[in-house]
Amino acid sequence: MQIDIITVVPDLLQSPFQHSIMKRAADKGLLQVNVINLRNYGLGNYKQVDDYAFGGEAGMVMMIEPIAACINDLKAQRNYDEVIFLTPDGNTFNQKMANQLSLKENLIVLCGHYKGIDERLRQHFVTMEISIGDYVLSGGELAAAVVVDAIGRLIPGVLNDESSALMDSFQDDLLSHPVYTRPADYNGWKVPAELLSGNPKIIQQWKEEQSLKRTEERRPDLLQ
Ligand code: ADE
Repeated sequence: MQIDIITVVPDLLQSPFQHSIMKRAADKGLLQVNVINLRNYGLGNYKQVDDYAFGGEAGMVMMIEPIAACINDLKAQRNYDEVIFLTPDGNTFNQKMANQLSLKENLIVLCGHYKGIDERLRQHFVTMEISIGDYVLSGGELAAAVVVDAIGRLIPGVLNDESSALMDSFQDDLLSHPVYTRPADYNGWKVPAELLSGNPKIIQQWKEEQSLKRTEERRPDLLQ
């Protein structure tokens, strides 16, 4: 998969994809993330990418020409499955969306900044609008990092143990069960006996019960 992220703050996206699972995805050739500096498409000597809002509102709006030129440039090189815009008024991101997006070939991810982007971009270029939650970030970059990370780890072959993504919280609308490692007894705080039983059936049943219990306690809305 190739993901091209369009941003005015490329520095914000330098590190997130260079470590851990995202790095492994890149090393295996399964995910290529390109960060594109929108400033390169800016207008005039000052490489302008934003301008005052029509109607006299406070705050700057990202202009249509630089973003349109950048997207058209990318589209001339390959076909894209989606042009995703990160915005607090988008559809709230969830695991199901991550699953679906992890099966795509090429994605463009557009990070908003300032007051937003010219609405005509949303009408004519953007195919999917995603919010990562009901709060406002200063730009779409951190949201893009969240979305790309969630998608990237689901790309087939990225995780070593294929089953581990299947056991994630939310993967089947349940939260994950608690996990433990050594020592089995720390100051008298013991690991549940079921996990130490060595009996796969007992272990599996414990995990399912705990998963359900945790979901009932913390996120009963998922069970509806
Ligand atoms: N840009 C600013 N806030 C955002 C949010 N909550 N989700 C996605 N993009 C954003």
